[in-house]
Amino acid sequence: MCGIVGYVGDSNAYDILIKGLHRLEYRGYDSAGVALINADGKLNVYKAIGKVSNLESFCTEKDVKGGTGIAHTRWATHGEPSDCNAHPHFSEDGEIALVHNGTIENYKVLKDALIENGCKFVSETDTEVLVQLIEYIKKHTKCPLLDAVREALRQVIGAYAIAVIDKNNPDTIIAARKSSPLVIGIGNNEMFIGSDATPIVEYTKEVVYLNDNEIAVVSKNAPLKIINLDNEEAKIDVRSLELSISQLEKGGYPHFMLKEIFEQHATLRDCIRGRVIDGGRNVIVSGVMDSKEKFLNAKRIIIVACGTSWHAALIGKYLFQDMCRIPVEVEYASEFRYSNPVIDERDLVIAISQSGETADTLAAIQMAREAGAYVYGISNVVGSSIPRNTDAGTYIHVGPEIGVASTKAFTGQVMVQTLIAMAIAELKGTMPKEKLVEIGQEILKIPEYVKQTLKLNDQIERLSLIFTYAHNFLYLGRGYSYPVALEGALKLKEISYIHAEGYPAAEMKHGPIALIDAEMPTVIIAPNDHLYEKIVSNVQQVKARHGSVIAIVTEGDKEIRNLADHVIEVPAVPECLTPIITSIPLQLLSYYIAVNKGKNVDMPRNLAKSVTVE
Ligand code: M6R
Repeated sequence: MCGIVGYVGDSNAYDILIKGLHRLEYRGYDSAGVALINADGKLNVYKAIGKVSNLESFCTEKDVKGGTGIAHTRWATHGEPSDCNAHPHFSEDGEIALVHNGTIENYKVLKDALIENGCKFVSETDTEVLVQLIEYIKKHTKCPLLDAVREALRQVIGAYAIAVIDKNNPDTIIAARKSSPLVIGIGNNEMFIGSDATPIVEYTKEVVYLNDNEIAVVSKNAPLKIINLDNEEAKIDVRSLELSISQLEKGGYPHFMLKEIFEQHATLRDCIRGRVIDGGRNVIVSGVMDSKEKFLNAKRIIIVACGTSWHAALIGKYLFQDMCRIPVEVEYASEFRYSNPVIDERDLVIAISQSGETADTLAAIQMAREAGAYVYGISNVVGSSIPRNTDAGTYIHVGPEIGVASTKAFTGQVMVQTLIAMAIAELKGTMPKEKLVEIGQEILKIPEYVKQTLKLNDQIERLSLIFTYAHNFLYLGRGYSYPVALEGALKLKEISYIHAEGYPAAEMKHGPIALIDAEMPTVIIAPNDHLYEKIVSNVQQVKARHGSVIAIVTEGDKEIRNLADHVIEVPAVPECLTPIITSIPLQLLSYYIAVNKGKNVDMPRNLAKSVTVE
């Protein structure tokens, strides 16, 4: 979703801002823009629909000098993607420019009031209301920019991260947040702003994550100052970034998605490190130890998440029920928050999110906490909103995921849930120790199993050529493999734009079987687990209707090998670990199909990496 970058210092802001916008491209956007204050105190605003490179072309031979600037990538919500609707928006008098990520819910009321008072609007966006309101307040009360911003924000209902510059105060950016992320980077006589740390990490490791309802005064030569909406000074908590530039580059791969798929042996090793100890005999998850009583006394676990994280949550349901004997409900955060859910203090809510910024998941967390539930977060991005708004939690530690299609985060989320379930099972005594040790030992071998699975790359690339022009796919799985089927279908849909449906294999005969013919490939996830014999009959049912079957099976498989048209063999692992292994060939299959179709794999149309609006 929208991305913000800001710079104030002695370097040329434009270069830093453009580089920053490129770093934020992964979030998804449809237009970009930049506002700069030059040495003569002139405010220049340039915007362009489409890619950041369009903005760069547009800026050739324009005045892009100046040490203060803000920039933005827009993902349209109010008003179509256009030059005019792109940010920065500026005040009618051309003195103030503003970029915004989020939505202003009461923008219509504010806009009508401003129009009645003579303001003229040029865009269809909700954002323009903010900058016009700030100008209006500043002019009519003759107050400094900071007070005008604070007063304007007090009138606004909705979510925002904003950065504002004023040509009358050229060495300062005012930044603020509520429910949308914003990070401030502290340099030497220079300061940076970013929607996340990716545009900042190249220049400084010292950052401050702004909290909701805080406003920061970010100046070149003055220390950072943060106040709240009541004008009280807030504490400044400087953190050190654990992020390196190499993690943000493709490292020789043609796409981030492929790099991230191929990193999974290493990311899972990082995820497990220090958590599975004594050769697999013990599992320690510090967040669980801190919340021991809550887990032990939980009458129910509710897992909330969206998209791929929701698929990981579904696997969590099998894990927690199997290992800990705790009833589990899995909810789309966007549905949960509006379903008038029955929650109380004996519920334990787990929120899963790669970005840690998904608006619906954050809202679900807030609702659960207000109802008295204990909320545990599973996130990837360190310092993001979800870990800061939950009672306890665990990072998956898989490193930055840049490809919009989530891959390594999914396997990390499944792994962390497995570890949490094992830790609770040990505390509750719901699983024999020998069984836990057996799984622990296999978890330590997972990086090796993943490496072996990645060797299937060439086979899957060849296979993808056969199916590139299919119009529909069906993905089937049972038990732990059912969420994997959903995830495989989502991966294909989002990057290749081929319609795909994931289904519990046995449900096929209650409807989707009608779709099966020689034209529609069916991907069946059939590892050697306790439902294997059942899924063999599902394969037979598809074959009996002349469907083409691609089967993901365990090495050495005999029965399905004789039935399926194409067989992909993965290493044998305990049933609870199969999703980590079987999801990898599906990631590769969707990747290659999308590449064959010439699609933009890392930035698929209409999608955003971090969905910060509801
Ligand atoms: O950052 P989150 O895990 O909260 O994101 C949730 C979904 O938006 C995300 O998983 C989305 O479905 C991915 N593009 C799937 O690949």
